[in-house]
Amino acid sequence: MIKLEDITKIYKMGENEVRALDGVSLHIKPHEFVSVIGPSGSGKSTLMNIIGCLDVATGGKYEIDGIDASEMTDNQLADLRNKKIGFIFQQYNLLAKLSALENVELPLIYRGIPAAKRQEMAMAALKKVGLADKAMHKPTELSGGQQQRVSVARALCGNPSLILADEPTGALDSKSGAEIMQMIHDLHKDGNTIVIITHDLNIAKQAERIITIRDGKITSDIDNSEDMAESSNVKASDIGDNENGKTADFDGTGGDGI
Ligand SMILES: Nc1ncnc2c1ncn2[C@@H]1O[C@H](COP(=O)(O)OP(=O)(O)O)[C@@H](O)[C@H]1O
Ligand SMILES: [Mg+2]
Repeated sequence: MIKLEDITKIYKMGENEVRALDGVSLHIKPHEFVSVIGPSGSGKSTLMNIIGCLDVATGGKYEIDGIDASEMTDNQLADLRNKKIGFIFQQYNLLAKLSALENVELPLIYRGIPAAKRQEMAMAALKKVGLADKAMHKPTELSGGQQQRVSVARALCGNPSLILADEPTGALDSKSGAEIMQMIHDLHKDGNTIVIITHDLNIAKQAERIITIRDGKITSDIDNSEDMAESSNVKASDIGDNENGKTADFDGTGGDGI
């Protein structure tokens, strides 16, 4: 379903070139739950932008569901994104002036779905994340955890084939983070393909496949499907409430067998 073949991404900064991705080849099958872990600057966001059709590679080939996205125009990429991908960002990316319901509806507007049907779909998605009673609230009237649940509802309501999450728990306390991870597990059980970008080993370990990226190259790609079941039961209390719990887990040494 997702096929990257020898993808490179070079950013030009005046005279200098930054090789953010350096020959990345990666296949992700439908219904897989994959995490991508690596230190800051390793190319995670660049990889996410390419998988999410938010940017195009400098070289190589990218295919999603058999469609070649490497040579697409911005409009074609936007269309592909809207139909196939649900995004969850660290900072929620909700529009402040819109209610929770309107935020969830937004991607459906771009698809040309009529208003009544849109509202019905958005309401069902909010119900699914336990926020039906907050549908008319603006983001500022919601907690961080609730805002991220709205963004999960927005990601799932259009039935995308791929859910792409960039540090989805990075801005949350551990309890809200664990709730969001539980929702991501539920989305996986519902048949979605999940790619989660993180520098938090406790999050990465919850995926059935863990990919490590360093200096723009994939340095390991391991099958974690046996351990995953165990770690998906990890409670917030097991992860720990300390400040380090959220951010300091990727120590760059590839500990814990990764
Ligand atoms: N828009 C950009 N322009 C120039 N350099 C960039 C840009 N985006 C990322 N980079 C560089 O590419 C490398 C990879 O960045 P990024 O993908 O953001 O890493 P990560 O998300 O793992 O922290 C870094 O050296 C970063 O400075
Ligand atoms: Mg990043």
